Amino acid sequence: MEFYRGRRLRNSVALRDLMAETTITANDLIMPYFVIETDDEDFKSPINSMPGQYQLSLKQLNETVKKAVANGLKAVLLFGLPKVKDPVGSQAYAENGIVQQTVRMLKQNFPQLIIITDVCLCEYTSHGHCGLLCEGDKQGLVINDSTLELLAKTAVSHAKAGADIVAPSDMMDGRVRAIRTALDEAGFKQTPIMSYAVKYASAFYGPFRDAAESAPQFGDRRTYQMDFRNQSEAIREMYADIEEGADIFIIKPASAYQDIIRMIYDRCDVPLAAYQVSGEYSMIKAAALNGWINENAIIMESLIGMRRAGAKLIITYFTEELLEKGLIK
Ligand code: PBG
Repeated sequence: MEFYRGRRLRNSVALRDLMAETTITANDLIMPYFVIETDDEDFKSPINSMPGQYQLSLKQLNETVKKAVANGLKAVLLFGLPKVKDPVGSQAYAENGIVQQTVRMLKQNFPQLIIITDVCLCEYTSHGHCGLLCEGDKQGLVINDSTLELLAKTAVSHAKAGADIVAPSDMMDGRVRAIRTALDEAGFKQTPIMSYAVKYASAFYGPFRDAAESAPQFGDRRTYQMDFRNQSEAIREMYADIEEGADIFIIKPASAYQDIIRMIYDRCDVPLAAYQVSGEYSMIKAAALNGWINENAIIMESLIGMRRAGAKLIITYFTEELLEKGLIK
């Protein structure tokens, strides 16, 4: 052979499409929403650091989801902003909490839509940490084991409201087991746990904390979220979550962590979800709004990269827009 002619298979759109190994469909995408408990039923407030994203009242969320479902939306991930916060995050597991209300509404209006709930306390605690603190704590040293009970209560209350999948994002040790046990005891043996198995302490979550009003009031999350200099820690978190009974793993953030996605993909058979987090979204949006990049092309390239790395699912704030533009069906 003269030499390798790689160009032979790149010569037309049709041929390139025929040879393409990696695809994305609406069945791979999950859209996050921020729903706020408010008396103003028309409340729709743009999130400054996430252009195109909003805090929505129940009614506004319903309108938004209606359009998105008509465009092919298959799955949502819900975050709640309660009216009142307290040190123990009691609105996270209140029967009539904002997420519980939202789940009931969406289930009734869109029975085919897959509803995933984020299970964490940080949007509900007055101090903004993901679990309980000792009185007087100013470092954010969340108490692990007593937090588990509240997370389990939260997950069960979401399942009772009708959630299809619960997604614990707190990074407490043993939460998957605690949640699995509590769900099973409450009669929800069929409710899957989509665990944020590998969640790094990341500056890419910055815009989200504006959106969810969940920034820690002091300290940071580095005593519970993972250190981004470590790869082996991801393997230990993976084994722990397999053993505790997680059904789907989330790896987060996504773009700077594709080595981690691939490593986990190669080591286990649990379906993976990559979370393209708020900062990743906002960086693309900011460049696009400046006219510096081709937005649609950059979004597709970044998402295909996550699929190539081994993610079945992608949680991305671009979902709604991609479906609306018809870029993904
Ligand atoms: C709650 C939670 C966070 C995100 C998802 N669930 C914030 C955090 O851990 O501080 C981040 C999502 C994003 O940045 O888009 N614990």
